[in-house]
Amino acid sequence: MDFSSDTAAPAHPAVIEAIAAANQGNQPSYGGDEVTARLRRHLSETFETDDLDFWLCASGTASNALALSILCSPIGAIACHEEAHIERDERGAPEFFSGGAKLRLLPGHGGQIDETALRAALAANNPNFVHETPLEALSLTNLTECGTAYPTSKIEQFVSLAKAEGLNAHLDGARLANALASTGASPAEMSWKAGIDVLTLGLTKTGAIGCEIILVFGSKRAEFPQLQARAKRSGHMPPKMRFLAAQAEAMLTDNLWMTLAAKANQTAREFADILCAKPGVTLAYPVDGNEVFCMLPPKIEALIRKAGVKCYPWPGGSYRFVCSWTTLASDLEAMRDLLAES
Ligand SMILES: Cc1ncc(COP(=O)(O)O)c(C=O)c1O
Repeated sequence: MDFSSDTAAPAHPAVIEAIAAANQGNQPSYGGDEVTARLRRHLSETFETDDLDFWLCASGTASNALALSILCSPIGAIACHEEAHIERDERGAPEFFSGGAKLRLLPGHGGQIDETALRAALAANNPNFVHETPLEALSLTNLTECGTAYPTSKIEQFVSLAKAEGLNAHLDGARLANALASTGASPAEMSWKAGIDVLTLGLTKTGAIGCEIILVFGSKRAEFPQLQARAKRSGHMPPKMRFLAAQAEAMLTDNLWMTLAAKANQTAREFADILCAKPGVTLAYPVDGNEVFCMLPPKIEALIRKAGVKCYPWPGGSYRFVCSWTTLASDLEAMRDLLAES
């Protein structure tokens, strides 16, 4: 029973087939190939706009750090949730790639920034006061690190508050598909239509081998050459870009990414029901996507540990269980049987 992460899951067969299909003959390097050209059309359709540029990376950390490096200068700060992946799990990559930008951590329940805290930080922002590091960007995450989903209206509201103070807006969408499946919003509504300048769209957790797309929208496209130069400088310019593009194309074709995310979300809800049927088990956060965070009584905690169920203890005392496109009904049944022993 492996509920450790959606990155522990295999890639979808369509992704493997797409890579094999792209493996024909020579193609121009560094994104000049046919598959990457086709991907542009897929992205325009998916996001309902031609007013975008994109870059492909193999990891979410690299794509977040590159994205933020064009949204915040070395002498500025990025407002984000105190549990954000860019703060807790990226070993200072945003600071490194931006050349020194600070992260300004904001509190909030369930991985979502508290509105009052955001308003206070924006109200106190004073770019003309030389002793302070002014906010230059807001970074939101959807799904959040606690598995909850911001509704699009909240993203829109937070971004418009930030923009009123001259900030740029970034969305970490490592699990964007799960947030879209949960809220019913379209990719366009949750990104550029909500004012997001740069989206890092993860496909790895959804079912790719390793493919994250940095999408740059609207007026921020002026910074795209800088993003490319930074990608090159930091070693994130894959020469055989076609194999990353092939993964993305397979995921977007016939909306496979959304089908897989909806399935993972549904499995997580069923998993949560199984866990919560046990007395003493409570959800730490609502299950909006494919992650379940539970408080477990000591007896169940011990049982799960003894059985070697893979999951992560999480800050705050809960346990995180992640479902993926490949989590089987039999995995859930095995969990139900195990819990019956308690
Ligand atoms: C919210 C979020 N952002 C970004 C990432 C990307 O991380 P990685 O560099 O492991 O692909 C993750 C991975 O766990 C994540 O949960």
